[in-house]
Amino acid sequence: MTNRSDASPTLIRLSDYQAPAWRVSRVELTFDLGIDATEVTSRLQLACDPTGPAPLRLDGEGLTLLDIQLDGQPLPESAWRYQDNVLEVDGARDGSVLETRVRVTPAANTALEGLYLSGSRETGFLLTQCEAEGFRHITFFLDRPDVLASYTVTLRADRERFPVLLAGGNPDGHGELDDGRHWARFVDPHPKPSYLFALVAGRLQKIERDYVTGSGRPLQLVIWAEADAIRHCGYAMDALERAMRWDEQAYGREYDLDVFHVVATHDFNMGAMENKGLNIFNAKYLLADPDSSTDEEYRAVEAVVAHEYFHNWSGNRVTCRDWFQLSLKEGLTVFREQQFSADMNSPALKRIEDVALLRRAQFPEDAGPLAHPVRPAQYSEINNFYTATVYEKGSELVRMVAGRLGRDGFRRGMDQYFSRHDGQAATLEDFLGALGDANGIDLGAYLAWYAQAGTPRLTARGRYDAAHRTYTLTLSQHTAPTPGQPHKRALPIPVKLALFDPRGRMVPLHLAGNGADAGASERVLVVDKAEQSFVFEQVEAAPVPSLLRGFSAPVILECDYAPADLALLLRHDPDGFNRWEAGQQLAARAYDNLREGNSSAALDAWCEALSALFGDTSVDAALLADLLTPPGEIELSERERQVNPSHVHALRQQLQEHLALRIGRETLEQRYTALAAHTSLELDAASQARRRLKRRVLELLARIDPWAAHGLATLQYDNAPNMTDRLGALAVLVRGDAPQAHAALAHFRERYADNPLAMDKWFSVQALLPGAVVLERVRQLESDPAFTLKNPNRVNSLFGAWARSNPDGFHRPDGSGYQLLAERLRQLDALNPQVSARLATAFNGWQRLEPTRHAAARSAIAALAAHPGLSRNLTEIVQSMLQ
Ligand code: PHE
Ligand code: ZN
Repeated sequence: MTNRSDASPTLIRLSDYQAPAWRVSRVELTFDLGIDATEVTSRLQLACDPTGPAPLRLDGEGLTLLDIQLDGQPLPESAWRYQDNVLEVDGARDGSVLETRVRVTPAANTALEGLYLSGSRETGFLLTQCEAEGFRHITFFLDRPDVLASYTVTLRADRERFPVLLAGGNPDGHGELDDGRHWARFVDPHPKPSYLFALVAGRLQKIERDYVTGSGRPLQLVIWAEADAIRHCGYAMDALERAMRWDEQAYGREYDLDVFHVVATHDFNMGAMENKGLNIFNAKYLLADPDSSTDEEYRAVEAVVAHEYFHNWSGNRVTCRDWFQLSLKEGLTVFREQQFSADMNSPALKRIEDVALLRRAQFPEDAGPLAHPVRPAQYSEINNFYTATVYEKGSELVRMVAGRLGRDGFRRGMDQYFSRHDGQAATLEDFLGALGDANGIDLGAYLAWYAQAGTPRLTARGRYDAAHRTYTLTLSQHTAPTPGQPHKRALPIPVKLALFDPRGRMVPLHLAGNGADAGASERVLVVDKAEQSFVFEQVEAAPVPSLLRGFSAPVILECDYAPADLALLLRHDPDGFNRWEAGQQLAARAYDNLREGNSSAALDAWCEALSALFGDTSVDAALLADLLTPPGEIELSERERQVNPSHVHALRQQLQEHLALRIGRETLEQRYTALAAHTSLELDAASQARRRLKRRVLELLARIDPWAAHGLATLQYDNAPNMTDRLGALAVLVRGDAPQAHAALAHFRERYADNPLAMDKWFSVQALLPGAVVLERVRQLESDPAFTLKNPNRVNSLFGAWARSNPDGFHRPDGSGYQLLAERLRQLDALNPQVSARLATAFNGWQRLEPTRHAAARSAIAALAAHPGLSRNLTEIVQSMLQ
């Protein structure tokens, strides 16, 4: 009935996979919906391998069994057993029909998995979340992704309380019942695994749009939300249409039902869910309006709407054989989403954003106690594996393969993958096999990337031989051990590179012993051994290499560049990503300089190059904003052997101070004023870019002249025409502990009291207050009437922001931050194990803390782990942490 750890600590292993002994070909479900009690009647058409009939075992958690029949006959109690979340039934044969009726209790479901209530009893609505294993909380089933069935779903409910009834598939009739209730039926002709099942019932409003597919098939797009939110759904509708068009053009994929429903909820564990024909979204990723959403949030809505839509092919039509293959759908779909966003916006900025995320979220995961391969070999709780590694690193692996095949080759391969595996539950071998076969290439070597955890370090050394005019580049790779994987092998690492002459021009490449591509200015070298050397000929002067262009592989590059070399790339590299990257590396060196208090060559070079770029009006404003941002504190911490987060914070502040001083107070102020004069409500790239740069300039100014910056921020806050400007100004005031912060926060609190997504930002902005004082603020905010542990967005906006994005404020040397988090995790875990387990990963990296914090963190985590009755989710995380 529960997943509390004392119940089942079993490990599930990839190597134990067995094809299902039983299958379900057709499912008929009838729901009699109610908030306190819902009855679910299920008719399963069973099939089994006639050679060796195995006992029929169905998954079911927390179900009250009311009735059970096999082939039309009531089953005697002796013919079935329901224990330990398994229903075992005797006497079933190939072709049998099993009918069950169960009761579930949506209003009591705080885990938000299965069927639950969003919002209040009076006005809320019912919905389901089934990935990964939520369907077993709704009815008995073979709840595994390789059991594909067609679904017919009938919903019945009180008409007044639940006027809208939705399930995935095409509508197949609706009508009245005699007792004030009504019904609606949906048929999904495409066989699907149970995790893609969904229903929604309640008082919802809609917006609709007609859509005609590329091949001329008309269909309808419908977005549903509660009354106060429906006017914020227009942007998502536009994004959906763009995504559908893009998938037709880029991949030749069309939508395959007559109607596509999308629903927004404020109560959701994750970002959104790709249920077949009925996507369900965390409102955070669906609603957008200028008054309450920032530019970043607009882009996130576009990306997530596209992501869920793209799953219709990469995930739904071709699904995963088992949950170890999760990245088959997630890595691939993130990659498709990134391509789409790059096409809709700026490719270079998108790449910068994605790599920054990878470094902030995935590299630390790969370097800590939770490290796991993109295809894990085992798990205790699958919900703990919806990670940056499976998603973001998974996308990088697809990107490497796509780069290897080239644009047309990758498209050929994807066509092959979709046609060969349509309607199937596939594996990563199937994926690489289809891509390779379509191109006559064996991609098997890339499987090693899926099996090996940890981020490879790629070391580059260059030697110029003036006499022979040759440049020898030696590349070596090493991956440090990760839990359970002491020995690592060499992986195929594609290194896209160019060489620059001392004046910043790319030189033609002549790779010794390789005629192909001779004279091209960019090429890809594949390093697949521990160490390899490449000799370039006809090189007239010692060159500066630009390596891993576009971030061609998810590795950490170590290169003995002189600061002047990086400064040259920062000024001249036409690859926008590598230009930014050169700046990041230079800033990281400057950080090292500051920490060690030694020569400031890197710091000088960084400040010098950036202040030159600052005056260069040809540089895109958004790119400039990114260039002016040094690596974040989490990334910088990865450079330390023993981390003192306050120290890292202070050094990063110093870094920005040096930069601001070099650019100059007046120059900053002038630029700010010029940018502020342009204030507009528009969402076009240029307006967004100006807002981004304006914020960065204001932040830099705040480092050297807080008084002036706070004055400007107050004006900006008061006159902001949109949330981007309002929140940007508020953040500067709050983080600078400005006297004006108090009034601005009070104003924001009142203005947005009825807007949950804006209120989340009100909590977050304060959770990011630097320094030890934030702990008091977090405690204060917890007792705000708007705070609740029951809403995942609210929890993340306060505790997630604080513990994850405010290292200086969370890691107090006295350990009180750790104790508070551990205490809340325990309470949260009793309500929602998925959310508690994810929040607990904020402890990642504790092993590398300096001794005082290290000891405090250990004791807080150990005390939490020792607590009886933790969920399997949280247990797995804290136990891995302590290993
Ligand atoms: N499959 C969803 C996505 O990536 C994420 C998700 C996982 C949502 C589990 C809910 C539960 O798009
Ligand atoms: Zn996804």
